[in-house]
Amino acid sequence: MKTLKTLGIIISTIIILAITSGLYVNFAKPDVGKAPDLKVKVTNERIQRGKYLANHVTVCMDCHSQRDWSTFSGPVVHGTEGAGGEVFDKKAGFPGSIYSTNLTPHSLSSWTDGEIYRAITAGVGKDGHALFPVMGYQRFGKMSKEDIISIIAYIRTLQPNKNDVPSPQLDFPVSLLNKLSPRLAEHRIKPSETDSIQYGGYLVNAAGCVDCHSKQDKGQIVKGTEFGGGMEFKQPAGIIRAPNITMDNATGIGRWTRELFVKKFKLYADTGYKPQRLAKNDLNTPMPWMMYANMSESDIKSIYAYLKSIEPKDNKVEVRSYAK
Ligand code: HEC
Ligand code: HEC
Repeated sequence: MKTLKTLGIIISTIIILAITSGLYVNFAKPDVGKAPDLKVKVTNERIQRGKYLANHVTVCMDCHSQRDWSTFSGPVVHGTEGAGGEVFDKKAGFPGSIYSTNLTPHSLSSWTDGEIYRAITAGVGKDGHALFPVMGYQRFGKMSKEDIISIIAYIRTLQPNKNDVPSPQLDFPVSLLNKLSPRLAEHRIKPSETDSIQYGGYLVNAAGCVDCHSKQDKGQIVKGTEFGGGMEFKQPAGIIRAPNITMDNATGIGRWTRELFVKKFKLYADTGYKPQRLAKNDLNTPMPWMMYANMSESDIKSIYAYLKSIEPKDNKVEVRSYAK
């Protein structure tokens, strides 16, 4: 009897604690403070740098535009650049429905530069909601402040597009936990381009290669699997997995020369390349080849130098498994 009572007290205490901590998280706002007072001076140089990064490195435009998934690598549908509307939902393994937002003046003209900066680098929207981290603010916050400012300068030049996007819906308990994720930016200095390993590392962070080319568990990279491949993308036709891009000879890309690496990326920038339509039961690649293709050759070489500098991992990945 007595033990039962004690047990009852312990259980109800646990329940009360769980509820109150849930409430606490629920009412707590992401703790990154007010948007900074920032006024971006728009120069042609910044617009060009921002355009290059947003389209070919950080690939903001990849997510924030509609994509034609019936064609290899899902090229951006012409006329939807920056208008948002791509959905990350349960069918693709996400805990809810999260829509990429409209970055054109239709949505952002009422935002201050500081609010856009806070969203990109700390993960908090104008309305104070914590952005779901498929939006890679943690990575963008580790870029140089000047590069982020250049991206803002470029976004301000996008053509308005009247596309309205639904608000995100997250499942419990991700809806609560997500509020604890935003963090203030910790900018890094952009390394010199002549230091190709360091600069390559900077680009790899900006491009998010590690997010896909590692194993993921509940939205987190599994420690020790970085660049060794394994993230799964579920599609109606089956599952496609990101391969091992470490320099392991047997299971990674250790046998690729720098020239071959550059060629694989540049293939899709060739004016003779015609985007291939896929058969209905084929798997499409989420790797944004079409966008990375216009990265400069020297940037692609730096990425190769960086990948060559990290530890090779022995991990064989079956890239494509077709549903029967
Ligand atoms: C992998 C896809 C992806 C990439 C790449 C990406 N975003 Fe996002 N972004 C999203 C999604 C999804 C949201 C909505 C998240 C939410 O509301 O929880 C979002 C939200 C935002 C918001 C907040 C807008 C609003 O109305 O709330 C801004 C601003 C933004 N992104 C800018 C950028 C910029 C600039 C880049 C490139 C540096 C970028 N994004 C790269 C997917 C992405
Ligand atoms: C959105 C997820 C995603 C991102 C981001 C991504 N990749 Fe991939 N990548 C994949 C998938 C999936 C494949 C396998 C299918 C294919 O070959 O397209 C792949 C294939 C590759 C291959 C071909 C490897 C082989 O064995 O054939 C290389 C090389 C590569 N990625 C390098 C990179 C680099 C470098 C970056 C960052 C600049 C990057 N990826 C970013 C998902 C991604």
